[in-house]
Amino acid sequence: MALLELHQLEKAYDDSHVPAVRALTLHIARGEFVTLLGPSGCGKTTTLRMIAGFVKPTGGLIRLDGQVLANAANGACVPPEARGMGMVFQSYAVWPHMTVAANVAYPLKLRRTPRAEIDRRVDAMLELVGLGGFAKRFPSQLSGGQQQRVALARALIAEPRVLLLDEPLSNLDAQLREAMRGELIDLHRRTGVTIVYVTHDQAEALAMSDRVVIMQQGAALQIGTPAEVYHRPTQRFIAEFIGAANMLPCQVSGWSAGMAQIALPGVDAPIHAAHALDRTPDKPLLVVRPEQVRLHEAGAGWLDGTVLRRQFLGEAHEVSIETAHGVLRAKAGAIDAPPRGAYVGITWETGWLVAG
Ligand SMILES: Nc1ncnc2c1ncn2[C@@H]1O[C@H](COP(=O)(O)OP(=O)(O)OP(=O)(O)O)[C@@H](O)[C@H]1O
Ligand SMILES: [Mg+2]
Repeated sequence: MALLELHQLEKAYDDSHVPAVRALTLHIARGEFVTLLGPSGCGKTTTLRMIAGFVKPTGGLIRLDGQVLANAANGACVPPEARGMGMVFQSYAVWPHMTVAANVAYPLKLRRTPRAEIDRRVDAMLELVGLGGFAKRFPSQLSGGQQQRVALARALIAEPRVLLLDEPLSNLDAQLREAMRGELIDLHRRTGVTIVYVTHDQAEALAMSDRVVIMQQGAALQIGTPAEVYHRPTQRFIAEFIGAANMLPCQVSGWSAGMAQIALPGVDAPIHAAHALDRTPDKPLLVVRPEQVRLHEAGAGWLDGTVLRRQFLGEAHEVSIETAHGVLRAKAGAIDAPPRGAYVGITWETGWLVAG
């Protein structure tokens, strides 16, 4: 059974015509790490704040472990402090006048936990987040990543039933953000806590989550594992939002449940694409990821093109190739990528078909 259930959840703020969140249904299992991913303004924070209890839904229902937390139908709404949630925000707001230990101890103090138990649990929690030697320091004496770990420790020490994280890494520089990603994955594994994570960073979502909810204008467009939303996007928006994608307008010449036969004008080759469609869309689009593109001698591929640009990425090159079907991006080797001006042949591994 799901630990946290959102059913047809909706929030329409008083002063706006379109709801910030609409018809959002999502079941989250105990111990799961689920990420809400979408562009700015798509309703991620609003959803998280409804789960936390700071925002009252205007439609639908939230249940935790079978117990109703909010029900728009009868106005029921359990206050935040009675929900057993932990929340960490983008601006991590650790108290500057308190030591690390005092910051982390705060939730237990509020609950009048005995002193000896507080000390024991704070020590254990600081070890868990890798801040063993930092108890007596003040936040100003810590790096951004360390401060963020204090905020996480403070949320975790109360043993929340669900941990809600709203872009907790966005204030950190790129390198630290990547390091913290790994630490969050480890922390999730060690504690087994259920996490709802909010980000607009697709790399973060793919790297950490058990499942990802792709949101656009308040609605969930696709819910799936990182591999599913990356390899089997259900819509053009998702294919373009996650990872890099070449989009080729095409025709479908043959059709079966799992595979479509693709016709590209001027191309005489048997091209196939996998899909999750139940009928031929009006404007079929073939999605080909840059890493699926294979480069050959000119004339030896399905189509030919001229290299417009070559960017060195360290572990590989990204090559942009001008073709009769638009500019295609390809990943090529760090050493053997064709130079600008080269005329090359192009094929790819099985593409993916979406509606345009
Ligand atoms: N208190 C509020 N009153 C009225 N409208 C609001 C309020 N809070 C958010 N909104 C609107 O609701 C929509 C969703 O906002 P929300 O903060 O949930 O987006 P988000 O996905 O978290 O975006 P971001 O990535 O920028 O943080 C936006 O159009 C926003 O302007
Ligand atoms: Mg937000």
